[in-house]
Formats: sequence, C-alpha cells, structure tokens
Amino acid sequence: MPEDPARALWIFGYGSLVWRPDFDHVESLPAVIRGFRRVFWQGSTDHRGVPGAPGRVVTLLPEPGGECAGRVYRVAPRAREQVLAGLDRREQGGYERFEVAAWLTDGGRRRRVPALMYAATPGNRNYLGPAPLEEIVRQVRGSCGPSGHNVDYVLELAAALRAMGACDPHVFEVESLLQAEGRQ
Ligand code: SIN
Repeated sequence: MPEDPARALWIFGYGSLVWRPDFDHVESLPAVIRGFRRVFWQGSTDHRGVPGAPGRVVTLLPEPGGECAGRVYRVAPRAREQVLAGLDRREQGGYERFEVAAWLTDGGRRRRVPALMYAATPGNRNYLGPAPLEEIVRQVRGSCGPSGHNVDYVLELAAALRAMGACDPHVFEVESLLQAEGRQ
C-alpha cells in the first residue's frame, strides 16, 4: 500500500545534519526557520571534542526577527521510529527535540512544513554559552573527537551553507578566521 505523504516526518537540520544527515530520507530541501540564530555555544564531548576538552558546535538562540538556514529532510512513515531513535542517540550530548515550522526556500516558493529539530538549551551538561570570537576559534582549532576535528565541522557547515546559497555571517566569520590561522 502506498505511504500517505501527510504522515511523513520532516527533520530540520542546521549543523552537522546539513551536510551529513546519515539517516534514511526520501527528499532533502533547503529551508529556513524563523525566530532563531545559529551560535557556536554548545560543547561537544562525544563528536568534536572529548570529556574535559569539549569542542564547540552549533545550537540555536531564540532571536525575534532572526532566521536560520538549513535543510529539511522528509522521512517516510515506515522509517520514522528508526530514524528518530538514531538521531536521539547521535544528538544525546545535550540536544533535545523540538517542533518547529520550517519554510522551504527552494525555487522561490515558500511552503511551510511542520518539522522536528534538535537544539541544545542552557542548562544541559555540555552547554558553554557565549564567548568572544577569538575564544571560539581557539577552542575549535584545538578540539578533536570521535567524529573528527572540530575545524572540519565548521568548514563543512560553511561550505554546505554556501553551496545552498545561504548566508550566515557568524559561521562565515569563524570559518575565515580558521582558514587564516590554520589548525593546531
Ligand atoms: C543539527 O545539525 O541540526 C543539530 C546539531 C548538530 O548535530 O550539529
């Protein structure tokens, strides 16, 4: 029996999920969410750093009038439970699931889909919060974890956003400082 598209699950990704979804999906489209901005405020001790020497990865900060570009992925109803279990495991270092409205930005049309996303809020055990830009760059340059070097996380994210035609001055600024200084 064909699957009912209305029962599909949409996942919005704005960090590693933009360039390395690594889960079963039937469609992926550029999208934005409104009312947030992306910040390197979450510590990573299981992907881009280790306990005692966390890397810095992105989370979302509520910001009236803000917009955060990423990708939405449509997951078939039959794959729903397996995909969510895998993502809950992957994002277990401080991220929680939230419901959000994602706006598809493909081809000039703006269609709204209800999506789930993972965001790390203040109070989780790995939350780092704000820091001067030089401190963020210093920490990224010096961090590495089971998923690879923290520098690669930033460069991959910046390249994927650029390839989609999206602009995020904060991400591009961290990228350009990393490229200027190299890694340790
Ligand atoms: C996301 O990509 O949407 C969540 C944060 C991350 O895994 O980098």
